[in-house]
Amino acid sequence: MKPSPWLIPRLGVNIDHFATLRQLRGTPYPDLVEVARLVENAGAHQITVHLREDRRHIQDRDVFDLRKKIGISLNLEMAVSPEIVKIAHKVKPDWVCLVPEKRQEVTTEGGLDVLKMRKKLAPLIADFRKKKIKVSLFIEPDVRVVEASHELGADAIEIHTGKFCNAAQKRFGAKSASIQKQELKRIASATAQGHKLGIHVHAGHGFDLSNVRKVAALGGIEEYNIGHSLVCRAALVGVDQAVREMLSAIQAP
Ligand code: PXP
Repeated sequence: MKPSPWLIPRLGVNIDHFATLRQLRGTPYPDLVEVARLVENAGAHQITVHLREDRRHIQDRDVFDLRKKIGISLNLEMAVSPEIVKIAHKVKPDWVCLVPEKRQEVTTEGGLDVLKMRKKLAPLIADFRKKKIKVSLFIEPDVRVVEASHELGADAIEIHTGKFCNAAQKRFGAKSASIQKQELKRIASATAQGHKLGIHVHAGHGFDLSNVRKVAALGGIEEYNIGHSLVCRAALVGVDQAVREMLSAIQAP
């Protein structure tokens, strides 16, 4: 199955860092449901949150609250940990996105090691799907891992674009241009393989208004989950404008 040239990508807005601001002071604001409503009214398609094991930003009650009160899709990013899996089954989000998680990391570094985790992932994926919760696996842009994700019965892959995005932000100095080129190739191959197998293709991590256009221009990615840069932009221009700008960047790169 080839990606349709008419495919209009969806935007999932990761609102974790609104919760980071709240947790910094232990205040009742910003109200995440209010944030989610602004995101929804601006035309985004999904609210994404990561309930981390250390609860550094999103709290359990946020996820239950959002589930009850938002009208658009809810995507719960989560580690493969029994405690969080139990919560996810109670919340029943539209999607779960399984991610690797290390306590000390600033943000999710790298994709899931699907090839090594097959035995652990297979029953988890089957259980979620039985409860009508769709599953995506956060993976590196590697064709073998796309194939393994499909074999395991995942509904989608979410391509970890961190390496490309860091290079596009010139974080690798003189090597940035060649790394970008190489990573764009890997993203394009993983996307093509996903479409060939008939698994949905999402992407996320490290996107800003500039680098996301280069990936969107490849075509074929159905959904983008974007957090940090959008929250930073919202601090300057408001949530509504920040969401609209990002929608335009992914849909008309
Ligand atoms: N997708 C996944 C699976 C993530 O773990 C994250 C970070 O929480 C994102 C997307 C969003 O990344 P960023 O905040 O860099 O836009």
